[in-house]
Amino acid sequence: MTKRICIIGAGPSGLAQLRAFQSAAEKGAEIPDIVCYEKQPDWGGLWRYSWRTGVDEHCNPCHASMYRYLWSNGPKEGLEFADYTFDEHFGKPIASYPPRAVLFDYIEGRVKMAGVRKYIKFNHVVRDVRAVDGGFEVTARDCEDDTEDRSVFDHVIVASGHFSFPNVPHYPGFETFNGRIMHAHDFRDAREFEGKDILILGTSYSAEDIGSQCWKYGCKSVTVAHRTAPMGYDWPENWQEVPKLERVDGKMAHFVDGTSKAVDAIILCTGYKHHFPFLPDDLRLKTANRLAANDLYKGVVFTGNADLFYLGMQDQWFTFNMFDAQAWWVRDAIMGRISLPDTATMEADWKERQADEDALEDDYACIAYQGAYTGELIAETDYPSFDIEAANQAFYEWKKHKKKGIMGFRDHGYVSPITGERAPPHHTPWVEALDDSLESYLQV
Ligand SMILES: Cc1cc2nc3c(=O)[nH]c(=O)nc-3n(C[C@H](O)[C@H](O)[C@H](O)COP(=O)(O)OP(=O)(O)OC[C@H]3O[C@@H](n4cnc5c(N)ncnc54)[C@H](O)[C@@H]3O)c2cc1C
Ligand SMILES: NC(=O)c1ccc[n+]([C@@H]2O[C@H](COP(=O)([O-])OP(=O)(O)OC[C@H]3O[C@@H](n4cnc5c(N)ncnc54)[C@H](OP(=O)(O)O)[C@@H]3O)[C@@H](O)[C@H]2O)c1
Repeated sequence: MTKRICIIGAGPSGLAQLRAFQSAAEKGAEIPDIVCYEKQPDWGGLWRYSWRTGVDEHCNPCHASMYRYLWSNGPKEGLEFADYTFDEHFGKPIASYPPRAVLFDYIEGRVKMAGVRKYIKFNHVVRDVRAVDGGFEVTARDCEDDTEDRSVFDHVIVASGHFSFPNVPHYPGFETFNGRIMHAHDFRDAREFEGKDILILGTSYSAEDIGSQCWKYGCKSVTVAHRTAPMGYDWPENWQEVPKLERVDGKMAHFVDGTSKAVDAIILCTGYKHHFPFLPDDLRLKTANRLAANDLYKGVVFTGNADLFYLGMQDQWFTFNMFDAQAWWVRDAIMGRISLPDTATMEADWKERQADEDALEDDYACIAYQGAYTGELIAETDYPSFDIEAANQAFYEWKKHKKKGIMGFRDHGYVSPITGERAPPHHTPWVEALDDSLESYLQV
């Protein structure tokens, strides 16, 4: 009997899974029956921009966390698909930090060519998954018809992402703050903060990028409060880093070192939660945002039930090509080309990966670690191998360029790990490039 596979989510991870199965079919293999449920009306996951916040058009939690004018925060050479290069898609070399619309176009180009849209049920939100005899019963809601869709599958692949449910801390005085308090998940347009003094909590990528955007589009000042350590870049003069927020009083933010600052808005760049409201406890991944997640053999097989897989649940330096490596590996596990060991061995695997991760000394080591993980999975499948060390190098150079100039790092170009060619510089320095459209970026 042909196996039945359910994929939850048609973002980059779910699409990688569809492409993995399609590439096996293209080579003559018989592939399982596949249904991919996607709650949004289109594919692309986070890369599909939505102006909505709060709930979507069907009253489901809004998935989108990306905002206008977002450019890739890492070099595209670190995420390039090995089976579909940027040069192939755009027909010419392009610069290294594409804006969101350009990356969406690239993601879409590969899956359009693969013809996998037919597997996806759009506007279908998965509401419930449970283990039953012979696999899993999955209940999805067809949000357009307002009907229930219930089916049984041999395997479920969770590709619903983990940067959509915000981690929202409380600080004393938030209740009576005389301004706007929002999480990065709801941030959409930096121009909202033109002429305003903003306070950002958090020191990771959202903090750095949302602060930089607000600065670029004309806010009056940026203050970033850190809980652990400052980011430490050479910031512009109307940008300051301060210690942890203690409390808010009216418009005044007070920090633990006794200093204070009047602000118009507080943007919580405080990260996201792995949250799977559609999964019962016995199938639910519970992990911190780290390179080696809990309970996942090879980073993808759920050790509590080895017929269940998760994609893209790690913290991410590598993204699209790592999702590909995972998707090809999961495909082969499902198709019997890779055999799984016993549960004790699978448990030992993720614990050992975590111990290795805990011993990493700096970001450079973390990049090499995730590169090696990606390479390990690729070596066990027929995904085209590529020069992972060159991708690592692109990330290393990127980190150095950020240190040198946080508002100028996107003006550099890197060597593609697939074609070996260095990307040209963008036609306009990032600080002056206010139009982030595909047409402007590609100068078409
Ligand atoms: C603000 C922001 C900026 C980022 N910028 C970059 C960047 O510059 N470069 C980079 O490489 N990475 C970036 N990332 C990382 C990002 O996680 C990956 O690029 C990528 O989008 C992850 O793909 P995914 O498919 O795993 O998850 P997602 O892109 O989140 O896709 C998950 C999909 O699952 C669907 N879904 C969720 N729940 C359900 C359900 N119950 N039923 C049906 N469908 C469901 C969603 O609608 C969505 O389409 C960024 C992340 C954020 C939050
Ligand atoms: N393309 C882009 O430009 C872009 C832009 C934004 C985001 N992203 C991506 O989005 C993903 C998520 O990044 P992220 O920055 O949102 O999340 P993140 O990397 O998980 O960082 C969360 C931050 O929140 C802080 N934090 C958590 N709880 C806090 C609290 N109670 N009080 C104060 N600070 C708190 C953490 O501080 P500690 O260090 O103290 O724990 C950390 O700095 C990443 O993959 C990133 O690459 C990309």
